[in-house]
Amino acid sequence: MTESTMRALVQHGYGGVEQLRLEHRPTPTPGRHEVLVRVHAVSPDSGTIHLLRGSPTLVRAALGWARPRQPVMGLAFAGIVVALGADVTSGFAIGDRVAGSATAAFADYVAAPIAKLARVPDAVELTDASTLPVSAGTAVQAIRDAARVQRGQRVLIIGAGGGVGSFLVQLAVDAGAHVTGIASAAKADFVRSLGAERVIDYREQSDPKQWGRFDVVIDTADGRPLRVLRRALTDRGTLVIVGADHVGGPMLEGTDRQLRAMLVDPWVRHRIVPVMQRESGDEVAGLLDLVAERRLRPPVEEVVPVEQAEHSIQRLLDRQVLGKTVISFANEAPQ
Ligand SMILES: NC(=O)c1ccc[n+]([C@@H]2O[C@H](COP(=O)([O-])OP(=O)(O)OC[C@H]3O[C@@H](n4cnc5c(N)ncnc54)[C@H](OP(=O)(O)O)[C@@H]3O)[C@@H](O)[C@H]2O)c1
Repeated sequence: MTESTMRALVQHGYGGVEQLRLEHRPTPTPGRHEVLVRVHAVSPDSGTIHLLRGSPTLVRAALGWARPRQPVMGLAFAGIVVALGADVTSGFAIGDRVAGSATAAFADYVAAPIAKLARVPDAVELTDASTLPVSAGTAVQAIRDAARVQRGQRVLIIGAGGGVGSFLVQLAVDAGAHVTGIASAAKADFVRSLGAERVIDYREQSDPKQWGRFDVVIDTADGRPLRVLRRALTDRGTLVIVGADHVGGPMLEGTDRQLRAMLVDPWVRHRIVPVMQRESGDEVAGLLDLVAERRLRPPVEEVVPVEQAEHSIQRLLDRQVLGKTVISFANEAPQ
C-alpha cells in the first residue's frame, strides 16, 4: 500500500542549494491521464536548475514571483507504476518500469502524465533511464530534427562534456558523423570516451576560426553571437542553438539568441535553427531502445542518495559534472 506521506526535495525560494530541504509531503493522487510512480531515480538537468534559480526571470510569471507555487523539484525520473488514473485503461499497468518527466518528480512518488512517459526495457537500469527524458530528449531533437546530421558530416558540439552535450556527441557518432567536441581540459578524456575524434579546450582556442570548418555546429554553452559561431561553418552549414545561460541578461538568459536564430535564418546562406525541446513519451521510448541496443550509453558520473542531493545539484551548478548526475530515491521511505 502507498504511504500517505512521502519524502520530497522541496525548494523554499529561488536561488541555490541553500533553498533545498528534504521534507515530508502528502503523496499525490494521479489525475485522469496520469499514473502514480514510485520513484527510484531522478536526474537533475539545466531545466531543474532554471526552476531552482527561477531563471530567466520571465519564467517566474508562470512559476510564482516570490517563490515557486509548486515547491517540489522536478523533472526527469524513472520508477515503477503503483496506481493508474481513471482514464488510463491501456498503455501502462501497475508494476511497469517507466521513465519520463514531470513537475514535482523529485520525491518518493510522482503523479506523472502518460503523454511524457515510456516503458523501460528490462535491459536498461532505472538509474540510466532517468537521465534520458530531458537531456537526451533535447539532444535527439537537435541532431535529428534541427541539424539533420548525415553520415560522413563533420559535426562540432560546443559544451560536449555537459548533460545535453554528452548525448549529442554519442547521437552524432551513431548517425555516422565525424565529431569534434569543445569542452574544458578536465572533460577532454570523457568527451573522447563518448566517441569524439577530436576535443578542443575552449580556454586555449577561443576563436572559432581556430576550430576548423564544420557541416554542423551545435552550441549548448558558448553563447557568442550567431555571426561569430557561423565562422566555423562550411558554406552551406547548419548552426543549431540549444542554449547558453550566461548571455542575454537575467530576464532572457540566452533565449533571445533562439529568437534571433529564427529571424536571421531566412536571410543567410547557412541554416540557423533553434531547439525548443518538447518532452514526449515516444521520444523517451526511442532513446530507451537505443540504450537497450547499446547504441547510446547514459553517461552517469555518480549516483547519490537523496540525502546528498544538495551535493549533486551544487556540482551541476558549478559545471563539474561529467555528463549526468543521478539522485536515488530507491531506499525505503522512512515511516
Ligand atoms: N533549447 C532547449 O530546449 C534546451 C533544453 C535543454 C537545455 N538547454 C540549455 O542548454 C544548455 C546546456 O544544458 P546542459 O543541461 O547540457 O548543461 P550542463 O550539464 O551544465 O552542461 C553545460 C556544459 O558546457 C560546458 N561549458 C561551459 N562554458 C563553455 C564554453 N564556453 N565552451 C564549451 N563548453 C562550455 C560546461 O563545462 P566546462 O566549462 O567544464 O566545459 C558543461 O559541461 C543550458 O543553457 C540549458 O539551459 C536548452
